[in-house]
Amino acid sequence: MKVLLYNMTPEQMFYVKQWREEHPEDDIETTEEILDASTVDEAKDFDCVSLMQVVDIDEEEVYKKLASFGIKQIALRSVGYNIINWDYVHKYDLFVTNTPAYSPRAVAENVLTSAMYLLRNWGQIFYNEQHDLNFVREENLMSDEIYNKTVGIIGLGRIGSAVAEIFSSLGAKVIGNDLIENPANEAFLEYTDFDTVIQNADILTLHTPLDPSIVDMISAKQFKEMKNSAIIINAARGPLINTQDLVEALKEHEIAGAALDVLTEENDFFMKKFNDISELPQTYQELAKMPNVVVTPHSAYYTKTSVKNMIVHSLTDIKRVLNGQKPVYLVEL
Ligand code: COI
Repeated sequence: MKVLLYNMTPEQMFYVKQWREEHPEDDIETTEEILDASTVDEAKDFDCVSLMQVVDIDEEEVYKKLASFGIKQIALRSVGYNIINWDYVHKYDLFVTNTPAYSPRAVAENVLTSAMYLLRNWGQIFYNEQHDLNFVREENLMSDEIYNKTVGIIGLGRIGSAVAEIFSSLGAKVIGNDLIENPANEAFLEYTDFDTVIQNADILTLHTPLDPSIVDMISAKQFKEMKNSAIIINAARGPLINTQDLVEALKEHEIAGAALDVLTEENDFFMKKFNDISELPQTYQELAKMPNVVVTPHSAYYTKTSVKNMIVHSLTDIKRVLNGQKPVYLVEL
């Protein structure tokens, strides 16, 4: 098979080399570029493209050209598939695979890390130490323990379920909402409606795919309904939360903290370096002043297991398709 992997990075390259050694019959080429109208021609003469990008592919020309090159499959090396324009996928008779099982645990463990960081007021502790040389154990730093907390999960696919399992094993009460209820999850959580999750969670964490119908799913109304002591974690997709409303809710003490691994504005600054904070989006500048907020650069997934499996699962599904088999991870929309 002849495959072009876009969005290549050095750490992924390690596993590409491993694949090449184990499958000398395959021609695996790589490029650091994203797939868009200016780079799609590079896919000519390949059987398939594989992508791991957060930038939407909205130009019709991309899909039209892929189809004209005889390519059928767009193989995403990601869980999320919101970068895809589904009208064009259907129009040009293409199909999409993703890698939802690369490591749900990687994201879930990052959610646990974020929750404990916020719960134990580490942001405020570091802020006091670094800005005020204040090492006093002030009363507002007193915390609570996880088994006294209710964790609310919106979206209970592979990642949300892994999050439920971790928190339930620590003794927390876990409640969750999803369109489809999986009986296997009932060992770890209680399913309930969306509003009940919002109103009762001490730790609210989002794990739904991004769909236009749920952009701003968490905005001013939900922040007002949440407990003032609640924290919110987003390791799914930025547009699920209205960032400006989040900034207001934090300023008004409607909620107690936020851990954001994704942001609507992330394409403007994640994976880039800056000289001055004034170059960053205004919303980030506001969030950066808050000790009860932690922003990570879309790194919740970023473990050795995930990076390896992104490559292996993606290339395996390409191979299956080219050998006339069904892909394991077909995205059906
Ligand atoms: C995903 O797999 O959906 C992620 O968010 C990881 C990202 C690097 C594409």
